[in-house]
Amino acid sequence: MKPLLITIDGPAGAGKTTVSKALAGELGYVYIDTGALYRGVAHEMLVRQVDKDDEKGLAALLADLDLRFERRAVDLRLFSAGMDITDRIRTPAITMLASAASAKPAVRNSLLELQRRLGSEKSAVFEGRDMGTVVFPEADVKFFLTADLHVRARRRYEELAGTCVGSISDVEMDMQKRDANDSGRDIAPLKPARDAVLIDSTGKSVKDVVDEMLAVISDAAGL
Ligand code: DC
Repeated sequence: MKPLLITIDGPAGAGKTTVSKALAGELGYVYIDTGALYRGVAHEMLVRQVDKDDEKGLAALLADLDLRFERRAVDLRLFSAGMDITDRIRTPAITMLASAASAKPAVRNSLLELQRRLGSEKSAVFEGRDMGTVVFPEADVKFFLTADLHVRARRRYEELAGTCVGSISDVEMDMQKRDANDSGRDIAPLKPARDAVLIDSTGKSVKDVVDEMLAVISDAAGL
């Protein structure tokens, strides 16, 4: 099969990460989590104490941003200026700041080039919000994965088990706020590409979703 570029977009908690990793594993492709890059920017903003509305500070931060992924066994780790920040970017504060940062054109432009460079060799599954619409409009196969809000909130709550201070309804409220930010922003809002295959993962297992995707990919590859 020729190397394909596959994109998976959708709202938080739809199961994108689990499904993208499993799909990349089935195909022997690399998996790239582009949300981690926005979280990486948010991490730097916190470290350098740059406010989201400080355009100059943000421009300076982006000018010497040095984010890269490195493979460690089966894991892809995110490094910022040589420091492994993979485990630091999942806090609720970084989650909200990443969403705010991702509405900034300067942030999106700076990450656009990096993402396209990462996709230049294809054989990759890219997970994000604007993969099929903006970053890779020419992707070979595009998916848009959704799920019922309650289901997404429950999944995220379970993922955060132990570290989550609030209740499921707090998680659901945060998620709704983030959905509104991500879908309502002017630049690269979360929406399905016109040629994306829509999959609703509500009530489906990971295997169900991955099998559905593999069938679409086989068709697209003419197998
Ligand atoms: O997928 P995630 O929750 O790790 O993403 C963190 C934030 O980054 C999310 O609020 C939306 C934003 N994001 C984006 O705007 N575009 C992407 N391609 C990926 C993530």
